[in-house]
Amino acid sequence: MPVRALADLFRPRGEAPAPDFRTAEEPEITIPPMPGTEPGEEGSLTRPSLDAARRRLAESFTPTRPLVGRRKRKDGDQSSSIGFIGREAERERIMRAVAEDRSHVVIFGERGRGKTSLANMVMAQALAMGFVVARHVCAANSDFDSIMRGLFRDIPRWLSTLGPAGPEDPPGALGLLPDRPVLPGDVMVASNALIELRLLLVVDEFDRVVDQETRTAFADTLKQLSDRGVPLSFVIIGVSESAEELLGRHPSIQRCVTRVPLPLLSHEEVEELVERGAERAGLDYSPTARACIAELARGVPYMGQLLALRAGQAALDHGRTAVQGSDLIAAMQAAVVEADPRIIAIYDSVTRMERDPAALGALRAAAAGRQDSLGRFQVWQDGPPDKPVLRVAGIAADPDAWRRVLQSGAIHPFRGDGPGLYVFGEAMLQQLVLLRAVLAQQAPRPGPGATPE
Ligand SMILES: Nc1ncnc2c1ncn2[C@@H]1O[C@H](COP(=O)(O)OP(=O)(O)OP(=O)(O)O)[C@@H](O)[C@H]1O
Ligand SMILES: [Mg+2]
Repeated sequence: MPVRALADLFRPRGEAPAPDFRTAEEPEITIPPMPGTEPGEEGSLTRPSLDAARRRLAESFTPTRPLVGRRKRKDGDQSSSIGFIGREAERERIMRAVAEDRSHVVIFGERGRGKTSLANMVMAQALAMGFVVARHVCAANSDFDSIMRGLFRDIPRWLSTLGPAGPEDPPGALGLLPDRPVLPGDVMVASNALIELRLLLVVDEFDRVVDQETRTAFADTLKQLSDRGVPLSFVIIGVSESAEELLGRHPSIQRCVTRVPLPLLSHEEVEELVERGAERAGLDYSPTARACIAELARGVPYMGQLLALRAGQAALDHGRTAVQGSDLIAAMQAAVVEADPRIIAIYDSVTRMERDPAALGALRAAAAGRQDSLGRFQVWQDGPPDKPVLRVAGIAADPDAWRRVLQSGAIHPFRGDGPGLYVFGEAMLQQLVLLRAVLAQQAPRPGPGATPE
């Protein structure tokens, strides 16, 4: 699907298409050629306006930080962030779970999908509705005691007057917790002192907690709170393929937990993300540039933000406010350089430094082919019985190479949802594969007299 179309976008005019690296049976999308892609076009922005434009751009695309929710009006229950796109269904489900069902919520999904940003919007909305909100971000050494103390410390200071705390006591509602290590029952007792309030306690990066006892203690706490109808909801967030993987398997909490898997953004939503950021930054990303970024991001908001930011910066480096093809190339190169070294190592090992064309083809098929809203794709066999064809995400691939890719762990079967569904093992590996594929097609090809290595 997108890789060849993207390569076409950057092909110098008049040059014949490069041979495709895949069996070209999958549907293609066509992106019209972008005007003015020749390198070296310089704009005429002057130094002071360039500096201002750079600052605006950095505020408009923020790949390194989650979006922050803001309350719209004092009287309203709405919250917003200018750059926040989509997620209406998820927000509605979470708010209903918390405000009406008094359920707890688990938000899970791949890295960079927007879990913290979504939680920030939910927190802003809950604050506007009169909830008292506290948050704690876990670390690898977090345990039940440190997480609960972190949350209670974050409960606004004025609440400490509700507990036995004196003026010299610790801030927030910490005084409600005992001096010894906190147990699930202590949370019940402490929440009795806060019974008049609607509390929302957000625990982010729960996947980093390695201690199994902590997970069990959390499950016990959720169950006890629900059983007694305490108006306190936890929102637990983490990188995971399932809520069970994150919280552990505890049949007792099935009914009191609302599971919210965070899907990818749609292609249109990523385009909208770029468009809105472009408006704020005062830069011009043509529809083709927006489509290109959306194709490469494949629904991951982090990658949409990163490519849009780097492309805008490249345009400004040339004194222009209009993003051109050469700026997108610069953005892709930057994204490859900035990729997590662990992911680069996996890519290099699976493709044997790109010297295994069959493995590279299988990986590219998985990266560019059809996927569902959770980034999962199917693998199946078709064709005549004497000449079966393996299809990875709809694209023909070499079966031996596919086995090698699976053995490497770069891609693995999706747990739980029946056979034939696969996902990339690491977030952003898919995008790295696509970026490298497009950049490889951009690299100058050896001339007729050149000798192959
Ligand atoms: N709905 C959205 N609209 C626009 N941009 C978004 C949206 N959600 C997330 N982003 C952007 O994507 C990037 C990653 O978001 P965020 O940090 O919330 O993801 P995450 O899932 O919490 O990541 P991690 O797993 O690393 O903690 C940030 O730059 C954020 O601004
Ligand atoms: Mg996060």
